Amino acid sequence: MATTVMITGASLGIGKATAFLFAQKGYDVVLAARQSDRLEAVARDIRARGRTALAVPTDVTDFEQVNALVEKALDAYGKIDVLVNNAGICMTAPMAQTTLEDWQKIINVNLWGYIYPIHAPLPHFLERKAGTIVNVGSFGGKMPLPNMSAYCTSKYAVTGLTETLRLELEPKGIHVCGVHPSVTNSDFLERAVFRGEEDSDARASAPAVGGDAQKPPCQSTRRCRPGDLEGGEAPPGRGSGGLWRARDNCPSLSPRLECVVYSAVD
Ligand SMILES: NC(=O)c1ccc[n+]([C@@H]2O[C@H](COP(=O)([O-])OP(=O)(O)OC[C@H]3O[C@@H](n4cnc5c(N)ncnc54)[C@H](OP(=O)(O)O)[C@@H]3O)[C@@H](O)[C@H]2O)c1
Repeated sequence: MATTVMITGASLGIGKATAFLFAQKGYDVVLAARQSDRLEAVARDIRARGRTALAVPTDVTDFEQVNALVEKALDAYGKIDVLVNNAGICMTAPMAQTTLEDWQKIINVNLWGYIYPIHAPLPHFLERKAGTIVNVGSFGGKMPLPNMSAYCTSKYAVTGLTETLRLELEPKGIHVCGVHPSVTNSDFLERAVFRGEEDSDARASAPAVGGDAQKPPCQSTRRCRPGDLEGGEAPPGRGSGGLWRARDNCPSLSPRLECVVYSAVD
């Protein structure tokens, strides 16, 4: 029986590239995102390459839909070996321009949208004493970014979720990993909400695009070495130059099972 991976946000960008990579490596792939046409197109593409793919339109902010996703995956393949939590949204705005609805939306997708897909298959993982959970965080979950308090709060929470769950679940045979991409060329920033007193200000402080989602994160990633990123306290400045420099100032990255994808370039 092939190994099975379930990926959220698999219709675009990093999730789609990750789905192709897992399929290429022989995994049965379960794809989740809201928009069914795009999702089904990815599934068709994977099947055309001779691999197996199941597309299940799912809103990760709805626990009933996530439960149904897990049930469909188990009906189709009998087990889930790997969960990749990846669906996410972005917003750039000063706090004063970030509405409570904005906060709720971003926390719903970027945090609850990770908690639900862990909660639903967890009994299955625990029963099998096996499984791998990969949470796609962000470098914005490891260092503060200007005018991105809602996004960074959600991603710091994902970092906390990943690191605490790892402590709890590793002794039970379940691996918990974090991947923290830097700026990656996808539709992410195109779809992001930019808001501020001056829209140009918000856009100027947003990360510049440098990497490429067609290169799946793991291909452009290296394992952090202990002490690798320890150093000064300087926050990142504006633009990719600042982000690039911030790499050297990111404190306390866990040396275990963590990687930051440095795809930002000047
Ligand atoms: N791109 C970057 O520069 C960058 C940098 C750091 C971290 N990341 C992280 O990487 C992850 C993927 O980003 P990306 O660049 O690939 O973004 P993307 O191209 O915008 O793709 C986002 C994916 O998430 C899905 N999605 C959004 N809301 C959803 C919901 N409520 N339920 C289910 N699926 C949902 C989208 O499909 P539907 O809209 O059809 O649902 C799409 O498949 C995110 O967690 C992001 O925070 C990205």
